[in-house]
Amino acid sequence: MSAVEADCAPVAAPAPAAHGVALALLGTGVVGGAFLKLLNTPAASSLKLVAAANSRRQQLDPAQLADRALREKLKTHGEPRNDETLLGALAQSGAAVKVIVDATASAALAAHHAEWLSRGYHVVTANKSLAGGALPDWRALQLALASGCTYGDSATVGAGLPVIATVRRLRQCGDALLTLEGVFSGSLSYLFNQYDGSRPFSALLREARALGYTEPDPRADLSGEDVARKLLILARCAGFALRPEEVEVESLVPEALRAVDTETFLARLEELDAPLAARHAQAKARGGALRFLARLNQRGHARVGLVEVPASHPATRLYGTDNQFALTTTRYNSQPLVIQGPGAGPEVTAQALLGDVLALG
Ligand SMILES: NC(=O)c1ccc[n+]([C@@H]2O[C@H](COP(=O)([O-])OP(=O)(O)OC[C@H]3O[C@@H](n4cnc5c(N)ncnc54)[C@H](OP(=O)(O)O)[C@@H]3O)[C@@H](O)[C@H]2O)c1
Repeated sequence: MSAVEADCAPVAAPAPAAHGVALALLGTGVVGGAFLKLLNTPAASSLKLVAAANSRRQQLDPAQLADRALREKLKTHGEPRNDETLLGALAQSGAAVKVIVDATASAALAAHHAEWLSRGYHVVTANKSLAGGALPDWRALQLALASGCTYGDSATVGAGLPVIATVRRLRQCGDALLTLEGVFSGSLSYLFNQYDGSRPFSALLREARALGYTEPDPRADLSGEDVARKLLILARCAGFALRPEEVEVESLVPEALRAVDTETFLARLEELDAPLAARHAQAKARGGALRFLARLNQRGHARVGLVEVPASHPATRLYGTDNQFALTTTRYNSQPLVIQGPGAGPEVTAQALLGDVLALG
């Protein structure tokens, strides 16, 4: 039998796995919902869900947790939210590995991550608020990791793309980052991959919003703040302990539209058109294109904003909502190491969470 045949040969069905890993899921929105679906697949058979919560309710009852309609039912059924009873369910599970999965964007919850790690719970998160937040809080997180618990943060940047793991691995091997450059936002990727000046930017933005590619209030994407948080996370993984204020951010939201309510902003989207059309025409006249890039150099200078790139630039070869991360390092110095692909979406993000959980088992 060849080696390939041996690898493909059927193996005896494994004995049912013991539930060595217990989970509490915070957030049953788009990503949390996709994660619940993955828990019902064979890949997750060694995991036991002991609690699930949205912002208002939580469920600890095993029969309810096993219900495929759990996410829907939590909207109207369940006990009021209480972190301590939720952690109590994990503690009482008897599992050797207890994991809190944070699939929310709540800064209030992220503020507890370090404390949970210190108390012996592993944390797996898609929530960027702590790792991409204030520097003292990030430092507190590093100290909490001394407890021996793990912080699974793969889903915070690039969804399922192996970006954070790669940056950490290069550093571990003594390979220093010289530059990091890329497109870190699915929605901004889509907008500038499509924008060729033939239609107003506002029309494209309305279309992207209708397709669900932007946040309900697109300023969350256009402000560049989400990209800045991702750059901060990667910079810190690469050894640059930057403060949020050290990331220069160019917002695409005109000053006059920053403080208005969402409805007013959506009604005045045309105000974005003229400035962007002028920049596009300028770039086109020089044979270039516009891309919303995040950049970090070896001196720790970090910037997020719209850049005119030459037509040969790797970011001009992106499709749809793809993300791209180009790493130039002391060892990858003639050509960058490039990680590219879907950098958003519930399934791939949930899979990144599952991967981090399974790595603990
Ligand atoms: N969507 C993506 O493609 C993607 C990709 C990468 C990373 N992420 C990140 O993943 C996270 C979740 O994104 P999403 O798109 O799933 O958001 P979402 O659909 O708005 O869901 C957020 C969920 O969090 C819940 N929540 C808020 N505060 C909570 C609290 N204190 N306790 C328990 N649950 C709470 C909400 O509860 P209610 O239902 O009661 O409001 C909701 O179920 C965000 O940090 C996002 O940046 C998303």
